Amino acid sequence: MKESNFKTYKIVTFGCQMNARDSEKLAGVLEEKGYIEIESEEDADIVIFNTCTVRENANQRLYGHIGQLKKSYLNNKNKIIGICGCMMQEKDEVEVIKNKYNHVRLIFGTHNIDEFGNLIDEVINSDDKVIRVYDESSNIEKSLPSKRVFKFKCGVNIMYGCNNFCTYCIVPYVRGRERSRSVDDIIEEIKADIRDGVIEVMLLGQNVNSYSGVASDKYSFANNEKVTFPELLEEVAKIEGLKRIRFMTSHPKDLSDELIRVIKSHDNICRHIHLPVQSGSDNILKAMNRRYDRKSYLQVIKKIRDNIDDVGITTDIIVGFPGETEKDFEDTLSLINEVLYDAVFTFEYSKRTGTKAAEMDNQVPEEIVKKRFKRLLDAVENCSGKNVEKYVGRVMEVLVEGEDKISGKLTGRLSNNYLVHFTGDKELIGQIVKVRLVRSCKFYFEGEL
Ligand code: SAH
Ligand code: SF4
Ligand code: F3S
Repeated sequence: MKESNFKTYKIVTFGCQMNARDSEKLAGVLEEKGYIEIESEEDADIVIFNTCTVRENANQRLYGHIGQLKKSYLNNKNKIIGICGCMMQEKDEVEVIKNKYNHVRLIFGTHNIDEFGNLIDEVINSDDKVIRVYDESSNIEKSLPSKRVFKFKCGVNIMYGCNNFCTYCIVPYVRGRERSRSVDDIIEEIKADIRDGVIEVMLLGQNVNSYSGVASDKYSFANNEKVTFPELLEEVAKIEGLKRIRFMTSHPKDLSDELIRVIKSHDNICRHIHLPVQSGSDNILKAMNRRYDRKSYLQVIKKIRDNIDDVGITTDIIVGFPGETEKDFEDTLSLINEVLYDAVFTFEYSKRTGTKAAEMDNQVPEEIVKKRFKRLLDAVENCSGKNVEKYVGRVMEVLVEGEDKISGKLTGRLSNNYLVHFTGDKELIGQIVKVRLVRSCKFYFEGEL
């Protein structure tokens, strides 16, 4: 084996919480090998890009980054630039990297995370590129060491992949079929995190409500069969020392009464539900293969609000899905005016090769998508802040997460996911404190300890 001098690393993460969690595992593996994390992509001996491909612009950002690193690679031929994540599950993208970016020496996919330690050794000891991308993972990823970004909170995978095949979405193709981890593994991991100082966990899956492959309204704990998501959540809520539990993402078609009951009956389950609606039009929801309609979605929202006090509800919306008419788009605008979300994540439809929607012949022209997108942003802006006046004046619990770079104040989150800024000692970071909310600034509150 060649002696290596490589000692520093940098991981650049794109995409969702799944990728963020995977990056913590990659960092854990490198730290175990004695590498130290630094900020600069140029100076680091190992740079790994953990990619996302959910929308076209995610891909463009990656190319920008790796283009810029060519010079630092030429100055240090031992530098290892690696790319992994969802984009590397697409054969065409791997070809582009292989052919155009010769300085990229390591490529691996979402199903090869377990092997990362060996892949790094291989590339250090080889003059060739190392490329390892499996089409499907054979089993559930084994436990890897991890280096958390925050000491006091972390993500915990409860399942991988997705079976829903929403017609616009690439995720089922790049993350494979749904696989759920066992309750015991999940609970053990959380207990270990708590021993390590964690007080908040986020349970992660593309559709947590179908954990273990059972729709969450089919209870089975009693007869010892598969455990549903509400049952898992309840087990997690009982773990001693766990102050806050979040979960992401809930699919509206599978959100059950039982889930609402469990949230309501445990104070440590956060009052926040991210419930992506994507569109307010039944025609579009059908073409998207979302398997709910506007009416049933609104019923779920009502049930949540009727049962869970102070709940924050957030969503994702896509504008310009193929075939979207002015009327369909107006249905989306009216839906957001009706629901008054606490936050809305908005996306222009992006055509992903391999998905059903990419084949549809009624793609909406770009100028129209852009105009609608702007109108959507205006509508979101108009609605924001309408739900929050009721909180002003109240004293609420905040998990202090860090310092706001601009104001220097502390920043933290309420159970319902709203941000709060307030003056206080840095020592409080990582603790839950009581803060009086004195002013609402639409997306956050100003408060006093
Ligand atoms: N599993 C989650 C979403 C994962 S992707 C769910 O089902 O809600 C996160 C968000 O990206 C989606 O909710 C959707 O709004 C958006 N998105 C996914 N594919 C997209 C595409 N092709 N174009 C634009 N936005 C997309
Ligand atoms: Fe994509 Fe739909 Fe699966 Fe979410 S549920 S990851 S949007 S296919
Ligand atoms: Fe992107 Fe992969 Fe997540 S495509 S949104 S990083 S699952």
